[in-house]
This record gives sequence, structure tokens and C-alpha cells, in this order.
Amino acid sequence: MMAAADQPKLIVEADAEALAQAAAERVMARIAANPGRIAICLTGGSSPRKLYQLLGSDAYRGKIPWDRVHWFIGDERFVPSSDPLNNMAVARATFLDRNAPSGHIHPIPTTAESPEAGAEAYARELQSFYGAKNLDPARPLFDMVLMGAGPDGHTASLFPGYPAIEETIRWVVGVPKANVAPFVPRVSLTLPALASCREMLFEIAGHDKQPILTRLLNGETLPAVRARSNGETVWLVDQAALPEGIRGGR
Ligand code: 6PG
Repeated sequence: MMAAADQPKLIVEADAEALAQAAAERVMARIAANPGRIAICLTGGSSPRKLYQLLGSDAYRGKIPWDRVHWFIGDERFVPSSDPLNNMAVARATFLDRNAPSGHIHPIPTTAESPEAGAEAYARELQSFYGAKNLDPARPLFDMVLMGAGPDGHTASLFPGYPAIEETIRWVVGVPKANVAPFVPRVSLTLPALASCREMLFEIAGHDKQPILTRLLNGETLPAVRARSNGETVWLVDQAALPEGIRGGR
């Protein structure tokens, strides 16, 4: 299986609304494809908010088998869950708390003494959920991993040039200092842990993303380019984020 080396599949939607709809449909398709226990790794930042609203809306919530789906998060800002910067708190407030059994919501702990201690605790939680300490390529950890891309090309909290991006053994690491705002310490899943999924789905929308999407499409070896699923990797982008040259085309 050489899928990891494959280029991501680029899907262009008209605008952020259509992009969120398409993302929701892909989440539903991954859920439908797995008759057993399902694991979805959410992401932070502003990019997934519309998708979270959709999943909690009447159009979708009734179709999600909440008793079979577990919700994780790919990275967290090391702030209390009461802080508006906390990624899982946003997902909880937007759609999880009203729908998911509380035992199926798996936040990264931010009450540990350090980001590193939080990372170790989350790695233990993921490994106990997975039932092994080593990832088996034939048995992905997640059905779907959601991702975003930051202005410097980071994804999750894997920043360009930082040691965390080179991690090959650990599943989760502490990141003492962020490269972009908010400048709070982070905890992040690593490339091998994020890769262990059937589908990795990036949402990249809006004109603000045009400079970074241009660099990513040019193949710069930034974290958002290096993050690949062992299965399928999809970049969902909207027209406003596309580089001038290809906008409106394709
Ligand atoms: C975080 C995210 C991060 C995010 C990108 C894009 O904690 O900040 O998980 O990786 O996806 O920074 O952020 P926006 O969606 O806010 O542009």
C-alpha cells in the first residue's frame, strides 16, 4: 500500500458554506463505512466551525450514531477548558455536549503540570482506546482526521522547523512555544499518529489562506504538506483560497 506517498486529492468548492457541506458529507460517508466503533479526530482554529455547526444541526445530528462515535482532537492549546482558546471546548459547545455521550468525548488534558505531561496522558488514552502501543498500518487509529493549515504552513500544532514535526515514535508531544498566535504552549499529535487514519481531511477556505495555499500547492515541504494519511488525504479548498492563476479555472 503506497497511498502515503500519493498526492492529496484537491477538491474545490464555491465558498466556505459549500466547503463545510462537503466536509460534513465526507464525515458522514466515513461514519457510514464503519459498522463498528468509529473514531474521529477533530481540529481547532476557526476553519472547522461551520462543519461543527452542521454536524450539530437537525440536518445531520439525527443521522449520526452517537453511541458508536468517539471524538478526539489533533492538537490543543495548553489553556484550561474554560478558556475560549481551548479547541475541544469550542467543539463541545458547538455540537458535542448536546449530542455525544460524555465518555465518547476525549479532550487533551490541559490541567497536567506541563504540555509534555498532558501529551503523555493523551498518548496513554489513545493507546488504551486503540488497544496497542504500536500502530498497525492495517488497522488505522482514526476513521477520519480533520486538519487546518496555518499561515506559516503548520497543521495541528506541528510548526515548521520545530522538533515536533520530526517525531517518528511518540504519538503526542508537548510544544512549549507556538510559532503563530495564540502564543500559548500546545499539545499535538505527531505525523505518525495523525497518518493512522482512513481519511485526512483539510479544510482551507477564504482569501486569507491564499498565500499559504499557494505555497502548499507549490509543494514546499511545510508541515501541512508533510501531513498525509496512510489512506486517503483530501484538501477541501474554496475559490477564494485558490492562487490567482487557477482561480475560477479547473
Ligand atoms: C490550532 C489548530 C491549527 C489550525 C490552523 C488553522 O490549534 O490552531 O488546530 O492547526 O488548524 O492554525 O487555523 P484557522 O482555522 O484558525 O485558520
